[in-house]
Amino acid sequence: MPHAEADHDTRRSRQWLAGEARGAGVDRDQLLELGAAMAALTAAAAEREPVAVASAPVGVDPGTPIAKPLPPELLRPLDTNAEMRWTALAGQGYVVPNDRFFVRNHTVTPRLDAGTWRLRLFGTGLRDAPTRDAPVEFSLDDLRRLPAEESDALLECAGNGRRFFAEQQSEPAPGVAWGLGGVGVARWRGVRLGTVLRLAGLRDDAVDVMPEGLDPDYVTGGINLGRVRRPLPIAKALDDVLLAYEMNGEPLPADHGFPVRVVVPGWIGISSIKWVGPVEVSTTPLFSPWNTRFYRMFGPGHPDGGTVLEAQPVKSAFELAWDARVPAGAEVLLHGRSWSGNGPIERVEVDTGDGWRPADLVAADRGGAWQRWTALWRPPAPGRFTLRARATDATGAGQPERATPNTLAYLFDAIVRHPVTAH
Ligand code: MTE
Repeated sequence: MPHAEADHDTRRSRQWLAGEARGAGVDRDQLLELGAAMAALTAAAAEREPVAVASAPVGVDPGTPIAKPLPPELLRPLDTNAEMRWTALAGQGYVVPNDRFFVRNHTVTPRLDAGTWRLRLFGTGLRDAPTRDAPVEFSLDDLRRLPAEESDALLECAGNGRRFFAEQQSEPAPGVAWGLGGVGVARWRGVRLGTVLRLAGLRDDAVDVMPEGLDPDYVTGGINLGRVRRPLPIAKALDDVLLAYEMNGEPLPADHGFPVRVVVPGWIGISSIKWVGPVEVSTTPLFSPWNTRFYRMFGPGHPDGGTVLEAQPVKSAFELAWDARVPAGAEVLLHGRSWSGNGPIERVEVDTGDGWRPADLVAADRGGAWQRWTALWRPPAPGRFTLRARATDATGAGQPERATPNTLAYLFDAIVRHPVTAH
C-alpha cells in the first residue's frame, strides 16, 4: 500500500476505533475497507509501537477482574469472566441470585463512588447539541427520584455456548469458551432510558444512543480501543431499555455495573453496558469496535461486512452437572430452563434416548424472560446417556441440530448433548 494511502487508512481506522466515524462519512464499503485496514494496522502496530496501556478511571481499584467471591460450586472462572454453573440453579426460584449471576468483564470491575458518579448525556441528538465536556447530567439521586420500573429481564452473552461449536461441531471457536452458563434472569429496578433521554432534550431525528462504560479502556492486539461502548438504535432505546440501579432487590453489585447499568432485555449482553457514564445521542449512525469488529456475524451466509447482532436465539439447559450421576432404575425429575431473546417460550421437548416428548412447563413463567420446565425420567439401566432439550419460541423459532458456524462463534443455538451416567 502506498505510504499516503496507508496513512489515510490509519487515520480513518483510528477515527473508527475511537468511535468518531459517523454514518455520513462511512458507508458499508468504506467499513469493509476499514476492516482490512484495521487488520493491517493491528499487525503493523504490534511491530512498531509499545503496547498501549489502559488508563484506569479515577476511583478504580485495579485489583482482581471480579469483585465477588467465586465459589467453585456456583461459578467457573474463565479469564476475566465467570460462568454460572447450572447446578447452582437447582432448587432456586425464577431469578438467578446475585452471588451466582455470570460476570462478563472486558477488563476489571471498577469501584465507583455513587456520590460523585454522574450520567452524562451529550450529542447532536439532544436539543442544543450539548458536548461531551458540557453534557446534561443526572446524579444517582436524580435517577432515583424519577418513576421507577421493575423488570425480570434476561441477560446473555453472545458467546454463550461457544465451546459447543468445537465440541459438537468440530468447528473453530475463538474467544472465551463459555459452556451454557453465560446467561441469567434478574429482577432489575431502575428508570426507563427513554424517560431520561426525553428529559435530556431528545430530538425527533435522533437515530442512535451509545452508552459508554467507566471500566478501564479495552486494549487488544496492542491497540487501545477505548471504553466499552456500543450503539443502540433509538427505537430499542425508547422501548424496554432500563437504566438499572438495583438487581434482585439490592443496589447493583460492583461486578454487575454499580452504580448504574443499561439493561437491554433479550439482546446480546454487550448491549447492556455496565458502569455507564457518558451517553452519546446522535442524529447520524454511531459506530464502535463493538458493533463493527466484534459482536457481528462474519462468515458464510453473511455479507462481507458482517451482520450486526441484536436479539439472542432460542436455547435450553438442564439444571444438572456435566456428566452428572443419576441412580439407574429410579425415577429422576429433570429440571431445566429455555429462553429466547425474540419472545416467550411456547414449547419445550426433551429426549432421554428414546425420542422427543413434551416437557412440563412451569405455569407461572408463561410469557416471561425464560421458562422453567421439568421432565420425568427413569434411566433403564446403568450406563452412559445423552439428554437433550429443545424449545420453540413465540415467533416459531426452534433449536436446530447444528448451529450456523460464524467466524467469531456467536449465537450457538443448537440442541446441546448433555452427558449423564446412571449407576
Ligand atoms: N459493560 C462494560 N462497561 N464493560 C464490559 O466489559 N461486558 C458486556 C456487558 N456490559 C461489559 C459491559 C457483556 S459482553 C455482557 S455479556 C454483559 O455486560 C454481562 O453482564 P454481567 O457481567 O452483569 O453478567
